[in-house]
Amino acid sequence: MCGIVDYIGDKQAQPILLSSLSRLEYRGYDSCGIAVSSSPPRRIEAYKDAVRVEALAKMVPQLGGTAGIGHTRWATCGEPSQVNAHPHCDCAGNIAVVHNGVINNFQRLRQQLTSEGHNFVSETDTEVIPHLIEKYYDGNLEKAVEAALRDVEGSYAIVVLMAGEPKLVAAKKDSPLIIGIGDRENFIASDVPAILDYTNRVIYLEEGDIGVVTKDNIKIKRDGTEVSRKEHKILWSIEEAQKGGYEHFMLKEIHEQPKVIRDTLGEYTSSAEPVVDLARIRDEGIESMLILACGTSYYAALVGKYIVEELLRIPVRVEIASEFSYYGQTLARTGAIVITQSGETADTLKAVKRLKEVGCRVVAITNVVGSSASRIADQTIYTRAGPEISVAATKSFTAQLMVLYWLAMGYSKADARRLATMLLGLRQLPSKVQQVLDNEAIILEHAKYLSKYENVFFIGRGINFPVALEGALKLKEISYIHAEGYAAGELKHGPFALLGENTPVIAIVAQDNTYEVMLTNIKEVKARKSPLIALAEEGDEAIGELADFVITVPRVDALFSPVVNTVALQLLAYYTAKERGCPIDFPRNLAKSVTVE
Ligand code: AGP
Repeated sequence: MCGIVDYIGDKQAQPILLSSLSRLEYRGYDSCGIAVSSSPPRRIEAYKDAVRVEALAKMVPQLGGTAGIGHTRWATCGEPSQVNAHPHCDCAGNIAVVHNGVINNFQRLRQQLTSEGHNFVSETDTEVIPHLIEKYYDGNLEKAVEAALRDVEGSYAIVVLMAGEPKLVAAKKDSPLIIGIGDRENFIASDVPAILDYTNRVIYLEEGDIGVVTKDNIKIKRDGTEVSRKEHKILWSIEEAQKGGYEHFMLKEIHEQPKVIRDTLGEYTSSAEPVVDLARIRDEGIESMLILACGTSYYAALVGKYIVEELLRIPVRVEIASEFSYYGQTLARTGAIVITQSGETADTLKAVKRLKEVGCRVVAITNVVGSSASRIADQTIYTRAGPEISVAATKSFTAQLMVLYWLAMGYSKADARRLATMLLGLRQLPSKVQQVLDNEAIILEHAKYLSKYENVFFIGRGINFPVALEGALKLKEISYIHAEGYAAGELKHGPFALLGENTPVIAIVAQDNTYEVMLTNIKEVKARKSPLIALAEEGDEAIGELADFVITVPRVDALFSPVVNTVALQLLAYYTAKERGCPIDFPRNLAKSVTVE
């Protein structure tokens, strides 16, 4: 998963590339580089290293040129290093390429090219691309790129720069690529935050598109035929992709959740009927539902199971996308939903393709307009979380839940009175979440206590069992504490062996049919000396007698309790990681969207 940004216009490319790359580091940041085309003399000047963009900006000499390409990398093939950083060039150094994706047949291509006299310097799959272009170049750059890509198997978003050619050539397959339209200048990037300082007019390249971009012209072809692509106006201001005054993107995004709930619900509850034709559950006899996802989106899907089964009274199967792709079977008359914030997660996209192969109609819930998931699904429901920069998913999770609540209510078997009550409850959620956020100073205190430990359990029951799983993921991925989410009833079947004064337990206690048994579980945990932090609803008188610490959350309909509980656990994870001095927005070994299997 990498970030690409490219410029062609009348200005010097270098400063624009470096500034724009810094906005893409959430896509990968183990190395980066730029290349510019100076003319005259007609040559490529490139500079790259295994450093962050800020460091590269201080190292790179002045490279003259008004056309250039830039890249920030998340290593997949070849370790993070200067030689493996992009851009990659051909033998003569006349062609430079940046790439996001995976070339599956690069070994065979490399052998073939080596036998034809090409020399390779890196371990990457990408490096075969400039050499292929060099091989096929006969004066027409875009034709050489087309010919080169015919040899390639795999996923790519590439941009090609050639010395003396006053154009950039872009190509897209399975990885995102956009064109930013300027005034006598144009941009190509893997995502909009890279270009919002310069333009908010974008075109999303589609599968198989090849773009030929000069400073005052954009031509897009597919299978040799020129095509037109719709221009989108991006409503996200650059500030939305900035930190907005918060220390980290993650905290900003946690605090955005009241707005995200309003934006996402507003998008759909204003329409009488859900925009997605789930009525087929009734008239086409769809008898069950299958939801696929990864990571935090998978936990949203698990919450969705409880929501849909309660409201639609049909069985819901939730599968990890990477498992389903290889072992999953689908039952006849199954409705399929995939949930993916980025819309680019390779495991999820692979599962979608499998679903399509077996004739399943797929609805995608995603946060990114124009993402790959939105292009291969039969229908797409967009969450309105805005750009989520921090690697840890927060607001996108909440937005996903909003869509699941709204969908389930749209086709619910509950009576009109229950639905009216629920709709009121949904509309009150922004203020309920705001109450949790207003309580963060207390959560900060509990985080200081929790930050001293290395092993933590999260436990919950029913619709809050997935919340325990998500709370554990949040804590482990940004604080590096080993945290496990567990069904509260399961802890006694083994993990009790790990309890003791060095293993705190976070217990999610909702005022639903699991309340009494949760109190019993808390007593069992305390009997084994584990410190216990309870997440409990305001007005709960009993919990204070049992728990060592209590984080109070507003009382809401039990069905909505995952929303307020998750926000409290996001804050707990954030402040624990902060207390431990962790980088938070860019955790080690992780990237925002995992576009490889
Ligand atoms: C969650 O905090 C992680 N960033 C990760 O588990 C993420 O949820 C997962 O990779 C799925 O991403 P997606 O929603 O973009 O498909």
